[in-house]
Amino acid sequence: MNTNISKYFKPSKYINFLQAYPRLQNLLKIKNKNIRLLMINFYKYFVKKNNNLRFYFFGKSKKDLSIIFDKKDLIHSNDKVFNSLASNGIVIITNVLQQEERNKILNYFNEIQYKKFTTDWINKEIIDASSIKYKNKKKVEILSMHKDTKFLPEISEINNLFTEKIFGRSMKTVAEFFLHNCINNEEEDAYEDTNFHIDRYLPCLKIIYSPNTIDENDAPFGFIKKTHKLDDNFMNKFLLNTEKFFINNNELNEDLKKNIVSTICPENSLIITFTNGLHKRNIFKKNDNMRKTIFFQFTKNFNTFSLINYKKFN
Ligand SMILES: [Fe+2]
Repeated sequence: MNTNISKYFKPSKYINFLQAYPRLQNLLKIKNKNIRLLMINFYKYFVKKNNNLRFYFFGKSKKDLSIIFDKKDLIHSNDKVFNSLASNGIVIITNVLQQEERNKILNYFNEIQYKKFTTDWINKEIIDASSIKYKNKKKVEILSMHKDTKFLPEISEINNLFTEKIFGRSMKTVAEFFLHNCINNEEEDAYEDTNFHIDRYLPCLKIIYSPNTIDENDAPFGFIKKTHKLDDNFMNKFLLNTEKFFINNNELNEDLKKNIVSTICPENSLIITFTNGLHKRNIFKKNDNMRKTIFFQFTKNFNTFSLINYKKFN
């Protein structure tokens, strides 16, 4: 009996629940629109109180700002980069790492590809993300391994710069290595993540590094510019009425279609994007194509307590 009671009165369980960054799944369970709106507005209030988040997620987007930059821009005129990120919700930095760190990363990917591990990884076994995501109807195999970012000092420094600008404090996270391998031709809209969807309904940063060129056949990341803004009319209606977190192509209006970008990028690029905006993985157009990317996500370290505790970030 004692163990049963301690199960219910374990404070860490409740703290973890309260601390977790709000999930879309929980929002969609709320069918009453007034309550749903109340919940969204409750969190939005705190987003607005954080001066940094307010700059990126509220206010009018500037027109026609380029989304492609070079590492030099980040050093010499980074206002341009951050203004574009605030306006569009996505930027790509090319020539981002020195050759040494890029080569190191390619070797790490070789370890996953050939399943011969010689360096330190956080998980001891390969995560078969495709079986979790696509169950038994997979046409793409996705293997994943996690690494401490201390092994990637140059990329960590850039992550620190972006997270400090966006959240107000630099945020740590782990490097999630993903190896996508197309084993069978994919069709359009086959999975939820190959449709435009949102990951969260509140600010959500994803940083993606690609050591190799990604062209239109290699499942480039797709994004609809400006949909990351929390005061965007279309997005607010979508959030209030939707029962699913993806959107079919025929539900997109002309304005949204005009703002679709496919992040075809040269080797050694970093994509910085807000995945509370509409995004997707485009499909692979050729069999046997492989995509190597490292994902950096921050919802564990920037959580609900961080939102509410906005003074610490201003
Ligand atoms: Fe996503």
